[in-house]
Amino acid sequence: MLDRIDQLRAEIDSLKAVSFEEVELLRLKYLSKKGLVSVLFDDFKSVPAEMKREVGQRLNDLKTKAQERLEELKSGFSSVETELSAKPDLTRPSGNNQPGSRHPLSIVRNQIIDIFGRIGFTVADGPEIEDDWHNFSALNFTADHPARDMQDTFFIATNPDILLRTHTSSVQIRTMETTKPPLRMIFPGRVFRNEAISARAHCIFHQVEGLYIDKHVSFADLKQTLMYFAKEMFGENTKIRLRPSYFPFTEPSGEMDVSCLICGGVGCNICKHTGWVEILGCGMVDPNALENCGIDSQTYTGFAFGMGIERITMLKYQIKDLRLFFENDVRFLNQFTGAF
Ligand code: PHE
Repeated sequence: MLDRIDQLRAEIDSLKAVSFEEVELLRLKYLSKKGLVSVLFDDFKSVPAEMKREVGQRLNDLKTKAQERLEELKSGFSSVETELSAKPDLTRPSGNNQPGSRHPLSIVRNQIIDIFGRIGFTVADGPEIEDDWHNFSALNFTADHPARDMQDTFFIATNPDILLRTHTSSVQIRTMETTKPPLRMIFPGRVFRNEAISARAHCIFHQVEGLYIDKHVSFADLKQTLMYFAKEMFGENTKIRLRPSYFPFTEPSGEMDVSCLICGGVGCNICKHTGWVEILGCGMVDPNALENCGIDSQTYTGFAFGMGIERITMLKYQIKDLRLFFENDVRFLNQFTGAF
């Protein structure tokens, strides 16, 4: 027995391994239940009583020695386990982390929210998948109204009542249905139209619409609000111009132009030599739209407006092709790093 212990001890002292897995195999060979060291403990029972003390001690020493040697070998290799339990090395150089950037449309959307926030407009959100009522009918687009043609969208074949919203005016309706005036809100969101994709149009784009309803709200309030917005967005020297237009849910309706940012109004390619660029539609909320949402049109009046975020962003950053917003080309997006 003592010879065998000496023999194993010599063997263990000279153990070598080239990988973590090999150390594990050695552990099984010597220390597992049927391992070479463990079986000696089974034989211990048959050692004569007077030898038990010495043999027992040598046996325990052997076991401790084997455990220490295997630990020593193991420490030379890493495994998933040891790697995870290892303390992080704070002196290691960091990885090559590229700073991200906000998408230009998010930057401008946040600016619009901020500008209107300063004069008391809060933000509301609504579903992109809408029903006919909230996107069209409640907004005074009757079933066969030609204005529906300009906002053709994506319908579900099995249920023509379900569609992708064409504007966030649907959220104005949802808000008016559930909230009593006074209301002063803006509605940012993604909208959809049946448009061929080009440098100037896309079947997906983004809007911010706005709504202000209270007693005695007038067209003068609308004009002043929009002028404030244009100057905050494009600069103090920006001029605005309102042209008569038509929307089923506003009466009277208008479209607003701002003086061309590129040429300052003298005339250039961007403004098609007119000195003006259209940026939004607006008007006084039609009494029918108010009544459709249970708001008394004798007591309350209001204005609404809606703009495309892409259009504002293109003007602000002089971007000439709308498709750039959706291509996710980092050479384009990187240019906005640091802007918020
Ligand atoms: N909803 C209109 C559109 O998408 C914009 C608009 C909003 C016009 C509010 C007038 C008032 O074209």
